[in-house]
Amino acid sequence: MKEYVFKIKRFDPEKDVVPRWEEYTVEMEPFERLLDGLMKIKDSLDGSLTFRRSCAHGICGSCAMKINGKNRLACQTLIKDMPESISFEPLPAFPVIKDLVVDMDPFFGKNEEVLPRLINEEPPPERERLQSPEEQHRILESITCIMCACCTSSCPSYWADKQYLGPAAILKAARFILDTRDRAGNERLRMLARPHGIWRCHSIYNCVEVCPKEIDITGHISKMKRLAVRKR
Ligand code: F3S
Ligand code: FES
Repeated sequence: MKEYVFKIKRFDPEKDVVPRWEEYTVEMEPFERLLDGLMKIKDSLDGSLTFRRSCAHGICGSCAMKINGKNRLACQTLIKDMPESISFEPLPAFPVIKDLVVDMDPFFGKNEEVLPRLINEEPPPERERLQSPEEQHRILESITCIMCACCTSSCPSYWADKQYLGPAAILKAARFILDTRDRAGNERLRMLARPHGIWRCHSIYNCVEVCPKEIDITGHISKMKRLAVRKR
């Protein structure tokens, strides 16, 4: 067991005018994740601490936060890889609801804009719409996105323009545009090429650096730019 200091940026809309920092000392085993430490604080030191979590296994995306200056998943970060003092802040660029919980409506609203579902009006075959392994490979990376928002929240283009679709929504569009079973690719491409779409991306690569699933998001955005130019 080793002691770590968790420095947490807190904000209670019923009491605080501006955010404040609070420190907690937590005993941790080397194999534990940062989410375990946050749960220890909530369970034994301060029940008012507020944060999101669900799966605790890097699948649901709900424990995304800014940890020691970098967006990441608290449940996917081992304490043994961190220094003795660790800072926790809510994801930047989204409105804070309380402590480490941000309002995700703007994020999921952008996702809705790109029609995040398979669209195909053709009569379905008897069993299922099949893909070859090569066709499946085209979407293999993009389907691993867990919608944690680490990428969009770290993108300077999004900080400057809240109407920008952001990397996560563009990646979602790419996931369907590259899916051979989908038939709404042109519509989505038109959506991506409008103001506040793909051309707002200046290849800054922050999104790739923070993606907990190591997706080449910038590569996907560049692919969408090339497709959009070809369709002009
Ligand atoms: Fe932003 Fe990623 Fe483009 S950080 S500017 S979406 S490469
Ligand atoms: Fe689900 Fe961390 S709690 S990704």
